[in-house]
Amino acid sequence: MAVKVTLIPGDGIGPEVSRAMVRAVDAVTGGTIEWEEQLAGSAAVDAGHSPLPAATIQSIRQNRVGIKGPLQTPIGGGWRSVNVSIRQALDLYVSLRPVKSLPGPSKSRYEDVDVVVVRENTEGLYAGREHEAVPGVVEALKIVTRQASERIVRYGFEYARANGRRKITVSHKQSIMPLSDGLFLETARAVAEDYPFTEVEYVSLDNLVMDLALDPHQFDTIVLGNLDGDVVSDMCAGLVGGLGMVPGANIGTQYALFEAVHGTAPDIAGKGIANPLALILSAELMLRHVGERPAAKRLRAGVERLLTDGAVLTGDLGGSASTEQLTDALLEAL
Ligand code: NAI
Repeated sequence: MAVKVTLIPGDGIGPEVSRAMVRAVDAVTGGTIEWEEQLAGSAAVDAGHSPLPAATIQSIRQNRVGIKGPLQTPIGGGWRSVNVSIRQALDLYVSLRPVKSLPGPSKSRYEDVDVVVVRENTEGLYAGREHEAVPGVVEALKIVTRQASERIVRYGFEYARANGRRKITVSHKQSIMPLSDGLFLETARAVAEDYPFTEVEYVSLDNLVMDLALDPHQFDTIVLGNLDGDVVSDMCAGLVGGLGMVPGANIGTQYALFEAVHGTAPDIAGKGIANPLALILSAELMLRHVGERPAAKRLRAGVERLLTDGAVLTGDLGGSASTEQLTDALLEAL
């Protein structure tokens, strides 16, 4: 049965890597994904719409799943981050970042890293509540609610259960923020009681970061608040060679939007040399999400074969292939 997916190609290199991703997904699914293309960001503004047209949100609402290329946020104003607006409009409260070592050329300090970062996406210090109390003094509010803490921790446990993962690490800074992080921690402990068969540990953020740098293999699934999760997810990407090869997803109770975590790469946009693998790996997550697990596995295996072989790689991976040549090679590897 066909699955309809909203596709937002995005800005800069977005259309180039999206085209590659669609070819790869169509190849592994035999065309069961029906793409519904929608605009956002600069592409929408250039076409005379708002940066986040109502039709785009409506399309994700209808299809319940979408995948997007990077979107430009103009520096110094113009419009606010469309990524943030989409998260808020659809209440995508989970930022999910599976970080897994890949074979081949990616510069990485460790082998066999397999960590999943589950980050709260709606509150904390990123709630955007800042004001200048008096000239020269700015206050930023850190919002923590029991409801948002409970749903993110529960998501972490449910994800672990559904994906055969063995341990949850809940990270916090309760010693310094006994009320806000205290509430997060207390809520996490209460949720954990519902999952007696999953190992759980509670680790202070500073210890977590040090231990990740020393030996990431001791971690499995890490659940954190918004700011902490933002920092730790990029740090984990660094453990396997950087943002260029890491997939991401924003997930809510009703909708899910998958995306590569890199930006629009204005320096190489339009040159046909961008690396599409991060978006292709995000599509792997999307396929799992819509129940196309065999297709997802084939896609992952194809990417691993391509990287192990190492003959056809884009410039960022030390090769000289174009986006299209890499995609052709991937289709062969599939
Ligand atoms: P960036 O990720 O676009 O670029 C950083 C460097 O990485 C550049 O040298 C770029 O050429 C390279 N790079 C990124 N993706 C690549 C790929 N797939 N293949 C080969 N090389 C790649 O980050 P930057 O420059 O900070 O941001 C540029 C724009 O992207 C900004 O407008 C920013 O707001 C937006 N952005 C959007 C994101 C999203 O929609 N999820 C995430 C991050 C940034």
